[in-house]
Amino acid sequence: MTGDVAQAAGAAPYLIGEAMRGGYGRGADILHGCTIAVERGEIAVIVGPNGAGKSTAMKAVFGMLDLREGSVRLDGEDITALSPQARVRKGMGFVPQTNNIFASMSVEENLEMGAFIRDDDFHGTMEQVYDLFPILRDKRRQAAGELSGGQRQQVAVGRALMTKPKVLMLDEPTAGVSPIVMDELFDRIIEVARTGLPVLMVEQNARQALEIADKGYVLVQGANAHTGTGAELLADTAVRRSFLGG
Ligand SMILES: Nc1ncnc2c1ncn2[C@@H]1O[C@H](COP(=O)(O)OP(=O)(O)O)[C@@H](O)[C@H]1O
Ligand SMILES: [Mg+2]
Repeated sequence: MTGDVAQAAGAAPYLIGEAMRGGYGRGADILHGCTIAVERGEIAVIVGPNGAGKSTAMKAVFGMLDLREGSVRLDGEDITALSPQARVRKGMGFVPQTNNIFASMSVEENLEMGAFIRDDDFHGTMEQVYDLFPILRDKRRQAAGELSGGQRQQVAVGRALMTKPKVLMLDEPTAGVSPIVMDELFDRIIEVARTGLPVLMVEQNARQALEIADKGYVLVQGANAHTGTGAELLADTAVRRSFLGG
């Protein structure tokens, strides 16, 4: 299907946080009309300097922050007023940047916790997670907190997959891991996306992330500075100079 046909079919982004304005509690605005979105079957990547509001934008899309302006829509439905729990039931899987596993629980218990909203048999999904991340099968009885950084991120992603989400949101899934482990994690994320699951992720490894991105957003001070395909942003002189080290 060409882009034009997709447009004609009324293909709005699968998930969009549009023109979001908001901050924490009664504090000043952190987001100043920022928009992030992911299309069906695509990987969208958000990059930008520390403190730009990337995590805040993800939290806003997931409902952890009340918006003062703007909206969040999932598959065409306005979900701006829904709680995070209600959004999980609607099909949103979110891996936050920090505290994304239960360190004292075993790997398998973490995955079971991920399935908490399900009342059907989730063991097939668990097998899929173990097939995606075989090391987790080997370590399933081990406390998640004893795993390496890359393995803990696998647990966090696996936990989110246990809900059988319709869209996966990842905030810095490769934080603190070696370049080799980062490449492996990106390969697994691509594999997940190829199953048809849209992925919206924040990444500090901007260049590598834009290489696998269908769509990229550069956020600066809570607003969109640059938007394009991953390839367009990688080729953009201003983006290269400011955010990719030349
Ligand atoms: N829980 C919080 N309460 C108040 N301010 C916060 C909170 N989390 C982040 N901030 C502030 O919001 C701004 C954006 O932070 P953040 O979204 O974490 O940026 P990024 O993820 O792009 O590094 C920063 O100024 C940060 O200090
Ligand atoms: Mg962050």
